[in-house]
Amino acid sequence: MSNNIEGKVVVITGASSGLGEATARLLSAQGAIVVLGARRVDRLQSLAYELTGSGGRALIVATDVTHCEQVKRLVDAAVQTFGRIDVMINNAGIMPRAPLERLNIGDWDRTIDVNIKGVLYGIAAALPPMKQQKAGHIINVSSVAGHKVGPGFTVYAATKHAVRALSEGLRMEVKPYNIRTTVISPGAVATELPSSVTEPDIAESVRKFYKEIAIPAESFARAVAFAMSQREDVDVNEILFRPTRQEL
Ligand SMILES: NC(=O)c1ccc[n+]([C@@H]2O[C@H](COP(=O)([O-])OP(=O)(O)OC[C@H]3O[C@@H](n4cnc5c(N)ncnc54)[C@H](OP(=O)(O)O)[C@@H]3O)[C@@H](O)[C@H]2O)c1
Repeated sequence: MSNNIEGKVVVITGASSGLGEATARLLSAQGAIVVLGARRVDRLQSLAYELTGSGGRALIVATDVTHCEQVKRLVDAAVQTFGRIDVMINNAGIMPRAPLERLNIGDWDRTIDVNIKGVLYGIAAALPPMKQQKAGHIINVSSVAGHKVGPGFTVYAATKHAVRALSEGLRMEVKPYNIRTTVISPGAVATELPSSVTEPDIAESVRKFYKEIAIPAESFARAVAFAMSQREDVDVNEILFRPTRQEL
């Protein structure tokens, strides 16, 4: 029986570490063709080498999601090489955390550019070919912080709330084109995300929290596989999961 994953062309932003990397591994093992975007090309190269060495098919494209034309180039490469794009996973993200009063305006700008504009650029790149195909699946990555706001992660939470709002609007708008949409909101998952915290004192406490509580990145990959593997007439729109021990 088909798993509805095998043979699908899946584009993943932020594939050089963490959730994106784990998803590329799991989907490739289940027969997907993965097209990997991120800025650290050396990391993408070794991941692609590993996946192709295990019999998978992978393509890498250097991509900074804050540049619309680079995200378009990533998706275009998938379509030109493999003839279509079945799934777009807008996963790239950063999590600088600090109280607003520290006025880390550079962090605010970068967080908005990567977490909101990066997702929009992914949608802009994937929509035209998916509309033409009259099929596709766009998966956006929000967070528990897309459901809850707390002191110290206000800007991050604002960007992740925005991802949920974009995903809900997108869900309704793409109905005529037979495109599925899923927003996945993880809690603390063990990745390199805490290293995007620029304030040393906060970085230390975030690392400690993640060390105590975070669950493996494969948990996210399995959520992606769950949404993808449903029958094409089943649209899993939202998944929220956390470590069993996480209260927030
Ligand atoms: N881990 C968690 O606890 C957790 C919880 C909720 C939500 N999330 C979300 O999950 C997503 C993935 O994060 P992660 O946990 O896997 O963290 P991660 O290990 O730090 O991975 C982040 C990925 O995003 C990429 N990235 C960052 N800036 C980019 C840019 N300008 N252009 C292209 N790629 C960029 C990084 O690649 P390069 O640096 O090579 O470009 C990296 O591959 C993020 O959206 C994050 O907000 C994570």
